[in-house]
Amino acid sequence: MTGGSPSEAAAGRRAFGMRPAAATAGPQLDRDPLPEGPAPDLLPADAVVDLTAVRREAGIDDVLASLDRELVGLVPVKTRIAEIAALLLIDRTRERFGITAPQPTLHMSFTGNPGTGKTTVAVRMADLLHRLGYLRRGHLVTVTRDDLVGQYVGHTAPKTKDVIKRAMGGVLFIDEAYYLYKAENERDYGGEAIEILLQVMENNRDDLVVILAGYADRMDTFFAANPGMQSRIAHHITFPDYSVGELEEISVLMTCALGYRFSDEAREVLRRYLDKRVGQPWFANARSVRNAVERARLRQARRLLEQADPRVDLAALTTIEAPDLLASRVFDRGDDSSSHAGLGVIGSDDVDAYGNVVG
Ligand SMILES: Nc1ncnc2c1ncn2[C@@H]1O[C@H](COP(=O)(O)OP(=O)(O)OP(=O)(O)O)[C@@H](O)[C@H]1O
Ligand SMILES: [Mg+2]
Repeated sequence: MTGGSPSEAAAGRRAFGMRPAAATAGPQLDRDPLPEGPAPDLLPADAVVDLTAVRREAGIDDVLASLDRELVGLVPVKTRIAEIAALLLIDRTRERFGITAPQPTLHMSFTGNPGTGKTTVAVRMADLLHRLGYLRRGHLVTVTRDDLVGQYVGHTAPKTKDVIKRAMGGVLFIDEAYYLYKAENERDYGGEAIEILLQVMENNRDDLVVILAGYADRMDTFFAANPGMQSRIAHHITFPDYSVGELEEISVLMTCALGYRFSDEAREVLRRYLDKRVGQPWFANARSVRNAVERARLRQARRLLEQADPRVDLAALTTIEAPDLLASRVFDRGDDSSSHAGLGVIGSDDVDAYGNVVG
C-alpha cells in the first residue's frame, strides 16, 4: 500500500528478531529503551505454534469480546477490527520463524454520522493495537483543526509537531479532518499541517496510527483533494446509522450501566420515542440516546421528589417509568416530524430550552 523503504524502527525490530509483547523497538522520539540481552531464538522450520495460546497471551480475545458485548451493532466495524487483529497476530507468529515483513500500515479513516461510535471505537482500537504490540503506549490523542493549525506564519509546524509528539506510541485521532483543508483559501495553513502529517504517517508508521474521522461526504471531498492522504490510509471504515432496534438496545445498555431499568410501559414508550426521534432534526444516533436517557433520569428524580408519598424503595429508585419519557418534547411534534424545516429544533431532546445542542 505505502511505498518506500521500511522505517528505521521497523529495521530495528527485525534485527531484534521478534517484536516484544507491548513495545516496538527503534530510535524514535520518547521510545522505551530496547530490552537488553540476546535476541530470542527463532523457532525451527518444523515447529508448530498453537494460535490459541498466542491469542490468549496477547489478551485480544478479551478486547474483542468486550467490544462485541458493549457495543451494539457495528458488525462491519467489528469484522474489520477482528481482521486487523488476526493480521497482527499472524505477523507476530511469522516473526518467530524469522519471516519478517514491514509492519503493515494501519492508518485509518472512520466515516459516519454523529454519534455512530467513531470516537468510542478509536479508543478500543488504540487498546487493541497496544495489546498486539503494534503500539507501544496505546493512548489516544484527539485533536481537531485548531490543535494543529496556527493563525500566523511559522505557527503551524510547531503546533502540529507538538501534537504528533504527544501522540507517538499511540493513536492520533483527527476529528472532522476535512477542516484541515480549505479549498477556497490557498494561503490557509492547513496545508502545512497536512504535509507534516503525511511525512509522519509514512516515516513513523510503526509508532503512530493516524485515524481521520468525519462525515462520509465531506471526507470523500477531502480525500479527492488530498490524494497523498488517501493513499496512506489502509482502512476506510464506515460507521452506519443505527436502526431503531439497535438504538433501543443501546438505550437499555446505557440505562443498565447507570443502574436503572425501564418498566414494561416505559420500554414501549421508548420504542415510540426512538421511532419519532430518528426522523427529527439534530438526531445524533447513540449520542441522542445518551441525552434521552439523561433527560429521563432527571425527570425520574423530579417525579420521585414530587410524589405524594415520599417513601421510596430500590425499585422506585432504579426504574424509569413511562411518564419520564412521555414528558419529552419529542412527543410534542405532529406526525410530520420528519420535516427538518423551520424551527425544527423544538421537540428535540438534544437541544435545550435556549436552542443549544446538548451533549
Ligand atoms: N454501538 C454502540 N453501542 C453502545 N453505545 C454506543 C455505541 N455507539 C456509540 N455509543 C455511545 O454513544 C455515545 C456517542 O458515541 P461516539 O462519541 O463514539 O460517537 P461519534 O461517532 O464519535 O460521534 P461524533 O461524530 O459526533 O463525534 C458514546 O457515549 C458511546 O459510548
Ligand atoms: Mg466523536
